[in-house]
Amino acid sequence: MCGIVGHLGPQNSVDVVIEGLKRLEYRGYDSAGVSFISSDNELMVYKKKGEIANLISELDGKDIKARSSIGHTRWATHGGVNDQNAHPHAAPERGLSMVHNGIIENANELRDFLSSKGHKFESETDSECFLRLMLFHLDEGLDIKDAVIQSFKKIKGHSAFVILYKETDEIYAIKNGAPLVCGINDINSEAFVSSDPYALAGMANKIYFPENEVLCHLSPSNQNILNFYELNGEKSKRYTAKAQNMDHDPAAKGDYEHYMLKEIFEQPELIRSLTQFYFKGEGKDSLLKALSLPRKNVHITACGTAFYAGMVIKDFIEKENRIPCKLEIASEFRYRNPVLSNDELALFISQSGETADTLAAQQLCKEHGVKTLSIVNTEGSTLYRDCDANLLIRAGIEIGVASTKAFTQQALTGYLLSQVIKHNGMTDEVRNLLSGKLSLLAERIDNLLAREDEIKAIAKSIYQYNGYFFTGRGIYFPIALEGALKLKEIAYVHAEGYAAGELKHGPIALIDDQKVNVALVGPELFEKTVSNIQEIKARDGIIVSIGPKNNKELDEISDYYFGVELEGLEDLSPICLNIVNQLLSYHIAKLLGTDIDKPRNLAKSVTVE
Ligand code: G6P
Repeated sequence: MCGIVGHLGPQNSVDVVIEGLKRLEYRGYDSAGVSFISSDNELMVYKKKGEIANLISELDGKDIKARSSIGHTRWATHGGVNDQNAHPHAAPERGLSMVHNGIIENANELRDFLSSKGHKFESETDSECFLRLMLFHLDEGLDIKDAVIQSFKKIKGHSAFVILYKETDEIYAIKNGAPLVCGINDINSEAFVSSDPYALAGMANKIYFPENEVLCHLSPSNQNILNFYELNGEKSKRYTAKAQNMDHDPAAKGDYEHYMLKEIFEQPELIRSLTQFYFKGEGKDSLLKALSLPRKNVHITACGTAFYAGMVIKDFIEKENRIPCKLEIASEFRYRNPVLSNDELALFISQSGETADTLAAQQLCKEHGVKTLSIVNTEGSTLYRDCDANLLIRAGIEIGVASTKAFTQQALTGYLLSQVIKHNGMTDEVRNLLSGKLSLLAERIDNLLAREDEIKAIAKSIYQYNGYFFTGRGIYFPIALEGALKLKEIAYVHAEGYAAGELKHGPIALIDDQKVNVALVGPELFEKTVSNIQEIKARDGIIVSIGPKNNKELDEISDYYFGVELEGLEDLSPICLNIVNQLLSYHIAKLLGTDIDKPRNLAKSVTVE
């Protein structure tokens, strides 16, 4: 969603904020803006529709020196994508500007109230209400701190706000249910605020995670450059602090054309390091902690790609342990009044750990006394902090909006969980067996990636067709869903994921010689899936099959056949097939010329409902 960065300190603040925004642009890229206090003590605002490059060209050639600044990348919710609706929203004559991430649910009501008091709005956004509310309170005679607090109290919904005030050259930040972190660099006397610790990597040396409704105050004139307050004005201790040890390599894309491709190629190494982490490192204890939680039934909840990883994990847990798992999309689960009891386990899967619907589902389970476990990438995220236990997927930062490596790591972490439950712990024998298997998986994926050109050739043959059906059965059904999601996300073509056996109950009506069926075929239910391919073939559909290597039957039936070595890895075969899907989508999108790392309308982390 929207990205927020604020900075206060001796170096040029605008440079720091722009660097932070560039790192966060993968989260939202409808528009970008920055506000700062200039060397001649003016509050300035620059904001531009489109990617951050547009904002940078706007600033180009201007001699800007600022010691405090706030900035924003937008993912539009209220109001169209244009310069006016871009953040920061500001009243320069009053020395006040602000940025916002989230949704103000009572915006209409507040707008009516403020308009009736003579306040004029300049944008269509809900966010501007917060600016006008602060001005309303300043007019009443409150100081800036109280104006922020009183305005925040009037807001409904999940949001984070960062405010720059010229008069006192200070920054305030506050959140409810939306991500917000602060940071300091105590060597350089600098303070930072952001929606994501990644923006501050290499800049802050200490990171603070404030809880909801804690007012963060960045001020050069205080003894401590960063302070926290409760809404009653008293000092707050409701935050956690940790050393910032995240590296940031600005050339992180290396020789790869896109982050997505780089992240696909990182997978074998990440599998190896996941094995190390869970078998030899700190991960061991977290698996045992997860094992200690009740689990009469398991409720698995997630969104997007993480949801499809959840489908794979459900299969792992049920097959190995016969523990019933219910799987639900978080946005449905949270409003369905689900039946929950405290002898069950609620498992949440999320790359970011900040997805609003997943967090709401977790809160709901917590309120019902259900123990909560996460399979999560971002250590320190809201989900990570709120769950009773966490299993980290150790995927590193995922920049490509279309999730790839996170899916693989999520599914594998779930696999390890199912194995630990099965063996009621981890003996040396089990550990050796599993690490052997994961290292074989990493090796097989290396081999698959080395065949990228073959996948590229298939992409070249099929990228101009006008519809794609990804099909699979059993454990390959989630892979069909994930394959279709990937393709539509980045190539903007119509793609559906279907259970292969279900196609004849309706969608087969769409099959003709302009439709492609990408059939995911593994050892499980092989013959049944081949019959389903026959049904499509008989209706002139183009068949791309991804399945076991050297298989004559698949070769004959398919227009394009990509064989994968699955022997010895039968239960992990969905993960292997999915790697082929990832590369296929990538190359189709590339041929179609889309913006692969920043697909239209999407955001990496969806922090609004
Ligand atoms: C967004 C992203 C998807 C992701 C989903 C869930 O829609 O574009 O790639 O799968 O959110 O995100 P999470 O961070 O909870 O895994």
